[in-house]
Amino acid sequence: MTVPIPVGIAGVGHSVPDRVIDNDWFTQFVDTSDEWIVQRTGISQRRWLEDGEKLSDHFAACGKAALEQAGVLPSEVDLVIIGTVSPDYLVPSVACIVQDKLGCEKAGAFDINAGCAGFLYTLSVGRQFIASGAYKNVLVLGGEALSRITDIHDRGTVVLFADGCGGVLLRRHDDCEQGLIEDLTLGSDGSGYHFITRPVGGSYQSITQEDLAEGNHLLRMQGRDVYRFAVDQMTGLMEWAMDGQDISELGWVIPHQMNKRILETATARLEIPPEKVYINIDRFGNTSAGTVPICLSELSAHNKLEKNSLLVMAAFGAGLAWAGARIRW
Ligand code: UT7
Repeated sequence: MTVPIPVGIAGVGHSVPDRVIDNDWFTQFVDTSDEWIVQRTGISQRRWLEDGEKLSDHFAACGKAALEQAGVLPSEVDLVIIGTVSPDYLVPSVACIVQDKLGCEKAGAFDINAGCAGFLYTLSVGRQFIASGAYKNVLVLGGEALSRITDIHDRGTVVLFADGCGGVLLRRHDDCEQGLIEDLTLGSDGSGYHFITRPVGGSYQSITQEDLAEGNHLLRMQGRDVYRFAVDQMTGLMEWAMDGQDISELGWVIPHQMNKRILETATARLEIPPEKVYINIDRFGNTSAGTVPICLSELSAHNKLEKNSLLVMAAFGAGLAWAGARIRW
């Protein structure tokens, strides 16, 4: 997807809850073990919100950090877009709440639901507003409070999903001279909608007492089926992003942190050196739309993003929806 005006990433930030949940904690609710979780997912710990804590406060914190890094005031932001499937409320959008918390008084605001590909979908939308010349400063955030919509008694999901968010401020590339978004691709296959879904509570079926008892209003995932799709899709997205590129210029592959085994299989297929693949699932778990921007923000915070190096991003999840990006830092 090429665009008329080149778009860059002027600032980056992330925010995760302080509360650390280790693998052993889950043994009080489900039949699992630290050994199983580490071996099958690569996760050792994750962050979960405390009772009463709001995801919107974390979105505001990472938005503030991205604005500060870019040297842009909240009053200069034209648009706030957030990729999430777990906003504070189903109505209104969490983007409106974050717009207010940040004091982005002239900004429009809306959410995008693209599952784990939510950040890259949101990035693609934000990029269009800059590329068309319509706007100068677009805040693009992604993240989740999955602990709030995951069934504590479902061992196939509860050990995987976590809370946290990150994001970027987009500007014309000639205004910031970093993070050039060279190319983006989006894809979907809604025939697989049932693989990751919250079965009731949408407009099709409201929640009954029985649903509440059975947890049908919470996230359900057919993990093994998703796993098979995920390996092929992640491989295809990385292959697309690196097609025709000089591999010696590769800085980092920044994949959605869905499961360490999926990432190892996909990157090994493409013979990508493991040291070029950024992985933090061991510390943060799977935060869906939050994983890619949290990784990017950690790399930035640790000065691990080299000027002009290539960043390859790939994400896949509920929808089914997927997205890839190639960025020249
Ligand atoms: O980010 C959005 C996209 N999501 C993904 O890409 C996730 C993709 N899927 C996965 O990561 C993996 O499928 C899971 C981590 C969810 C599950 O791992 P798996 O190796 O695929 O396990 P499985 O579903 O094939 O289940 C194997 C066994 C089953 O037991 P039986 O039926 O063989 O007796 C499960 O009940 O492992 C059992 N199991 C567990 N055992 C201990 C499932 N979860 C757990 C658990 N602890 N937490």
